[in-house]
Amino acid sequence: MGKPLFIFLTTLVCIIAVVAAKGCTFSKGWTINVINNINNNDKVQVHCKSKDNDIGMKSLGFHESINWEFCENIVGPSTLYFCHFYKGNQQLVFDVFNHSMRPLCHEQDASKEYWRCSWVIMSDGIYMIDRSNGPEHNNKMYSWN
Ligand SMILES: *[C@@H]1O[C@H](CO)[C@@H](O)[C@H](O)[C@H]1NC(C)=O
Repeated sequence: MGKPLFIFLTTLVCIIAVVAAKGCTFSKGWTINVINNINNNDKVQVHCKSKDNDIGMKSLGFHESINWEFCENIVGPSTLYFCHFYKGNQQLVFDVFNHSMRPLCHEQDASKEYWRCSWVIMSDGIYMIDRSNGPEHNNKMYSWN
């Protein structure tokens, strides 16, 4: 390999590494929040993961939350995160992010756009903050069973 080619390739690799570290290159960056809003001493266990990323089992007390960010797969886009929720002897499992959730997670204010899915754990079920039109409001998505 000639020296100019080597320098060119090294530079290219560095540029790609910097772009990849700063954010999503060809797709949107999403944030997921899961917050426990049950005001008592019982913690809720939450285990979220996707095919290639395991957020791990977390124990959430009142007003504690888990937050993570990811770039959506370019192909598809097919990124899917699901969580398992354990409250006492009740449990739920469902997708916290999939392709069809995108409109609910699109948040806009005067100056900026955000892509953020926020889930709120309540004593009667799990709600999602709907930001798709007008002022945000909580939608009940799942009941504890
Ligand atoms: C996507 O997630 C939502 C919310 O959990 C769920 O209602 C819906 O069935 C999921 N869509 C698919 C295709 O699994």
